Amino acid sequence: MTAPHKLIICLICLTHFGFTQASYKFNSLHCSVASPEVGKINVCEIKAIDRYHNKLSVEMDLKKTLTQIEIHFKMLKRESGGWHPFFYDMKMDVCKFFQNKRSFFIPNIIYSFMKPFTNLNHTCPYLAGSVLRLWEFTPNEKGVLGVFPVDHGQYALHSDWYGNKAPILELNGSVLFYK
Ligand SMILES: *[C@@H]1O[C@H](CO)[C@@H](O)[C@H](O)[C@H]1NC(C)=O
Ligand SMILES: *[C@@H]1O[C@H](CO)[C@@H](O)[C@H](O)[C@H]1NC(C)=O
Repeated sequence: MTAPHKLIICLICLTHFGFTQASYKFNSLHCSVASPEVGKINVCEIKAIDRYHNKLSVEMDLKKTLTQIEIHFKMLKRESGGWHPFFYDMKMDVCKFFQNKRSFFIPNIIYSFMKPFTNLNHTCPYLAGSVLRLWEFTPNEKGVLGVFPVDHGQYALHSDWYGNKAPILELNGSVLFYK
């Protein structure tokens, strides 16, 4: 192969690499307990891995046994200076989800990215005295973008957690997808 050809191939691969090399960074995380008699937040933090990546951890002590858990979550996207509903807004019964994950299509995809990082992975009950955690969560960028080919930009997830039908927890976070 001649030198110019090598150069062209190299340019193509660089450009291609540039396009697929999307990355993410968590921007914010807020955890707030609605029922201190049910749960206590021990950890709610974003930690840097390197200049370009970070990881997210949330840990809660459970003080009461939960036989029913529901999450109301919605996604938002930041556009023209404000947050707007994006794509997804739903209530989900966590215990029913773990009984039959396949019948919850989108939650199952989202869960598949979190599974290695959390012990919220079985059906009810969740016992008093246990610790629920999402630990050092770093999404698989290629995996996420392969399934949700979203534009670059800033996205947020707001979630309200209910246990035995009463509000227990609010978790909000945002993430920046960039290249
Ligand atoms: C989470 O976001 C909602 C808006 O969707 C806001 O009302 C609530 O105060 C936020 N909670 C926390 C803990 O940041
Ligand atoms: C749930 O998570 C715990 C802690 O990571 C793990 O030991 C257990 O095997 C997991 N259970 C399932 C059903 O994946």
